[in-house]
Amino acid sequence: MLKKFVVCSVVSLFVMGGAVISSMATGDTGPADIKIVDSTSAKPKPAQFPHKVHQDKFKCGECHHGMADGKQVAYTEGMKIEKCEKCHTGATLAGKMKDKLKLDTLKGAGHGNCLECHKEMAKKDPALKEKKIDKCATCHPKA
Ligand code: HEC
Ligand code: HEC
Ligand code: HEC
Ligand code: HEC
Repeated sequence: MLKKFVVCSVVSLFVMGGAVISSMATGDTGPADIKIVDSTSAKPKPAQFPHKVHQDKFKCGECHHGMADGKQVAYTEGMKIEKCEKCHTGATLAGKMKDKLKLDTLKGAGHGNCLECHKEMAKKDPALKEKKIDKCATCHPKA
């Protein structure tokens, strides 16, 4: 109850500000730029993620999905979008693997999605190879 009240107040603050009205009408597309970092890791390796750049190129379902009965459910428009770490942890997907990736870690989810696509794209497109999108430093810039 309290939580609902807080959410309502925050929303009405935004509406009064006027700025968020258009994005509310088209659904929540999330932040334009995201720093992905595993807060549970002893040796975090933050990844920079220009979300908007990717939204302009790819469908939401390329990266977002849900879960039912422990299995992946494909993205459908308007579906509730949650953080990868909601599911990709030992608490939810213990022991799940894809190739050599541990899907019960944020690294496994990130590399299975981000790095796999970057490698594939770099293989197909010499300009992207040139841009080194398949290299570590593209996502993990030196601090
Ligand atoms: C190339 C992959 C990719 C594409 C395409 C993509 N997203 Fe995302 N999106 C992400 C990642 C990664 C995050 C960060 C998740 C996290 O912090 O765990 C995110 C975060 C979000 C969030 C915030 C979630 C939260 O709780 O913080 C929303 C909302 C969202 N995306 C909506 C969309 C919509 C709508 C589309 C399509 C128009 C889209 N995204 C396309 C990868 C993608
Ligand atoms: C609601 C829970 C949930 C969320 C949120 C979620 N996943 Fe998943 N994901 C799953 C499940 C379940 C599977 C299937 C695991 C299995 O059985 O192998 C999966 C599989 C995957 C796979 C391997 C299969 C494939 O599609 O290539 C990758 C990579 C992946 N997720 C990345 C991500 C990323 C990146 C995010 C955040 C943008 C994310 N996931 C958010 C539940 C989730
Ligand atoms: C479906 C394919 C795909 C997925 C998934 C994907 N990317 Fe990308 N990413 C690309 C392509 C293609 C480019 C090059 C865009 C360009 O230069 O035109 C790119 C560019 C980038 C860049 C460089 C942007 C710039 O212009 O300097 C970063 C950083 C990046 N991606 C991080 C990530 C991260 C982190 C994830 C996972 C959360 C991710 N990407 C998921 C395809 C993908
Ligand atoms: C296309 C983007 C992308 C590329 C390229 C990439 N990574 Fe990652 N990496 C991620 C994402 C997203 C995460 C999840 C964030 C996290 O774990 O803090 C991650 C996590 C990690 C982690 C886990 C850190 C922790 O939290 O424990 C390590 C280690 C790592 N990457 C090393 C590498 C190395 C080495 C390379 C080059 C071979 C590389 N990554 C290339 C996106 C990328």
